[in-house]
Amino acid sequence: MIATMTAPEPVIGRILFSPDQIRERLSELAAEIDAHYAGRDLVLLGVLRGAMMIVADLSRMLNHDRVEIDWITVSSYGDRTTSSGVIRMLKEPDLDLDGRNVLVIDDITDSGLTLSWLVANLRSRSVGSVEVLTLLRKPDLAKVEVPIRYVGFDIPPDFVADYGMDYAQRYRNLPYIALLEY
Ligand code: IMP
Ligand code: MG
Repeated sequence: MIATMTAPEPVIGRILFSPDQIRERLSELAAEIDAHYAGRDLVLLGVLRGAMMIVADLSRMLNHDRVEIDWITVSSYGDRTTSSGVIRMLKEPDLDLDGRNVLVIDDITDSGLTLSWLVANLRSRSVGSVEVLTLLRKPDLAKVEVPIRYVGFDIPPDFVADYGMDYAQRYRNLPYIALLEY
């Protein structure tokens, strides 16, 4: 028999948030968003691909009747241990955001570099207002201050997956949020 020498693959470990817990927190955030944007237009701008589940679930919880949904893709900065990498928008919004109230929705804020770059980029255009929602935040890893209006949960600095978030493109489909373990 030939021994395999490949590195061990991580597996789904402890579940941090069940589907019910995610749903409950999103409905609290939806109530805050309804109140904040009452009487104003609202564009949910999801960051692909991690935010797909959040946008799908959260948007259905809003009572706001003038919601539009759009998507962007940003490049990540490759070597995650350095902060010098350049972030680029790989997919621009399709909607004209001129004068619109934009709520950027991301899955997880780690160093904060992606979201701080994104907020600066959007604010340099003639967008009406820009706010940020992140489902998860790792406060211990923050390198830059990002003004995040809506945070789902603060979590420890460990790698998580599922509910839209991936490890090597896998696990996005699973309905809970779990730690990855080796
Ligand atoms: P940041 O720029 O360091 O804040 O990184 C944010 C992005 O890295 C997130 O939008 C995710 O796409 C990815 N990311 C960071 N931590 C994790 C994790 O634990 N699991 C999955 N993706 C992550
Ligand atoms: Mg992301």
